[in-house]
Amino acid sequence: MTGLSRHEIEILYMASLSPSGHNTQPWGIRIIAPYTWIITSDEQRWLPAVDPEQRETLLSIGAFIENVAVAAKYYGYELSLTILAKTSKDRDIGQVTLKKTNNPDPDPLLMNRIKRRRVVRKGYMAMEVGEKDVAYITNKDFARMHYFPPHSRQGRYLREGTIEATRQQTYRSSAQEELANWIRWSDDDALRFRDGLTPEGMEINGFAGWYVRNFYNREDVLTKAFREATVRNVVQQVSTHGGWLIITSDASAVGDLLETGRLFERMFLRSREKMIAVHPMTQILEEPQWQNMIATALGLSGRVQFILRIGYLETYPDPITLRRPVNWFVRRA
Ligand SMILES: Cc1cc2nc3c(=O)[nH]c(=O)nc-3n(C[C@H](O)[C@H](O)[C@H](O)COP(=O)(O)O)c2cc1C
Repeated sequence: MTGLSRHEIEILYMASLSPSGHNTQPWGIRIIAPYTWIITSDEQRWLPAVDPEQRETLLSIGAFIENVAVAAKYYGYELSLTILAKTSKDRDIGQVTLKKTNNPDPDPLLMNRIKRRRVVRKGYMAMEVGEKDVAYITNKDFARMHYFPPHSRQGRYLREGTIEATRQQTYRSSAQEELANWIRWSDDDALRFRDGLTPEGMEINGFAGWYVRNFYNREDVLTKAFREATVRNVVQQVSTHGGWLIITSDASAVGDLLETGRLFERMFLRSREKMIAVHPMTQILEEPQWQNMIATALGLSGRVQFILRIGYLETYPDPITLRRPVNWFVRRA
């Protein structure tokens, strides 16, 4: 086994519940000593076609680090992080040390927030997210998190831009093939890999879900019909929601991206209490024609790191995406 203590295993399990692009779970852990680990970036889990600079990989690892910090606090440890990576392509991202404190915070809310967080893509109400709720989920960090109502100038721009960028991306073969590699259509593949996107995770439910689980495979993702259905789906998603939340950072060095991933996850962990769904829609940031002009078009300074569609739900579904068990991503030094 991994030789980790019960608390370390629990903390890493909670960390593994964090979100990641295509659910690649791009993190690894190398154990240095008890409560001292290196967090690594797993090249096998990079997405070169949509994320050639590993920007999203580092944002996802940032979210993972935030979950480590929250879960560690619950068990009475404090996280200290030393960033090791100089560039986004370095494999050793940072060294984590958990120091025992005398004040554990065994508030079950902390753990429940992590366990119940999930991306929701369907069922948004057509109601603007209220000012107070935006203030709550962002913890009033308005310098880095910016809300735009659906019918604002920026909201309309994001809607049209997301549709156009999706259209471009679905016809970019490398991006579509990469997506195909990360979809686990069959139950067998889902169990074998415990990562990637499943029909349930993509909210293909009922008969359609049963059909695709049994009859779809990698090749179907590359057909014209699938690409067209993807665009139609996105058109529908951006037509009904409660607004957009944009997260910016001053720069895009490794530390900025990890910090922004942490900020994103902190916001995400507070959203369910307000019945607010969060859906990262990253297409604009992945298509070169759009990514360069998005900050200016929205009137924002800094770099746009997340484009999130948000909105109220009547019922909040429970998480269903796959995760690798802790001992699959931990190794000894
Ligand atoms: C950096 C980043 C980018 C993402 N981009 C998208 C996206 O463009 N479209 C989408 O539907 N989900 C996107 N997601 C959400 C992931 O697909 C989701 O987190 C993952 O499948 C795990 O599901 P869960 O968050 O419900 O646990 C993104 C997540 C992260 C962290």
